[in-house]
Amino acid sequence: MPTHATAADELAAGLLLDTPTISPKFLYDALGSTLFEAICELPEYYPTRTEAGIFATHGAAMARVAGSGTTLIDLGAGNCAKAASLFPLLQPRQYVAVDISADFVTDALNRLQQRFPEIGMLALGVDFSRQLPLPDTVRAAQRLFFYPGSSIGNFAPDEALAFLQRVHGACGDDGAILIGIDLEKDHAVLDAAYDDALGVTGAFNLNILRHANALLGADFDVRQWRHEGFFNPAMSRVEMHLTARSGHTVRWPGGSRHFAEGERIHTENSYKYREADAVDLLARAGFTDAQVWTDPERWFAVIYARGAAA
Ligand code: TRP
Repeated sequence: MPTHATAADELAAGLLLDTPTISPKFLYDALGSTLFEAICELPEYYPTRTEAGIFATHGAAMARVAGSGTTLIDLGAGNCAKAASLFPLLQPRQYVAVDISADFVTDALNRLQQRFPEIGMLALGVDFSRQLPLPDTVRAAQRLFFYPGSSIGNFAPDEALAFLQRVHGACGDDGAILIGIDLEKDHAVLDAAYDDALGVTGAFNLNILRHANALLGADFDVRQWRHEGFFNPAMSRVEMHLTARSGHTVRWPGGSRHFAEGERIHTENSYKYREADAVDLLARAGFTDAQVWTDPERWFAVIYARGAAA
């Protein structure tokens, strides 16, 4: 299966680590993406709706500090819905939708262009988590990097800093960032958000094993595994694991691994920040003049910060 060679190699290497790991990017096959949309509808999963509430309440204030005519660069645009909801307020001159999946984002952009013919639109299919190559077709002036959804929390803190430094490097002297960051809160709220009563989050996490079977040709038996999602206060992160219900061996072409009962595969971390630490992280990446908007319970923050001092 030559087209999957890289993914298969990466999956096999992760499974053979001392702490077996499957990269969270493999959560999002077609079923996984649908299950994640369902997660966003769950009463326990507060981040999506809390952030949307902050944009609804404070979008006009954000647009005032950002100014109109920006080059809006959406990092992880997906269906482009979050950015599009801000177009009437932000009135960007150009909208650049960046996503690892070029096809998906191109479809969304074509529909959006019909609704907003006055905004120049560009789709870029790149994995921006490693590097941020922006072609000349992206306007250099007034760049506003849009990074909602607390995706920053899925990086370890040192990776998050390196990522923000790269974004900062692409800001020029009049660029800025508008970023959504999930905040540390009552641990019971965090635990429930990542282990809901209906088991949708469990299904989402377990689905990664089906995807690994498809990509690697592994023989994971999903029924042999259970989902665990919980807040780890020492690391200030929610950890997602899959735990073996009994000892058994998983095989794939060219390899195998025995899992003892209770042994875990780590799938994702979701770091939660204190508000001051989020602002400090942006400052260490070179951003200045941070302005923070939150919800009444202070569960989530949307932060605007400039690439260079005003
Ligand atoms: N990026 C999401 C988050 O950190 C992903 C997510 C939500 C997730 N629930 C999950 C990942 C459960 C793995 C398992 O909030």
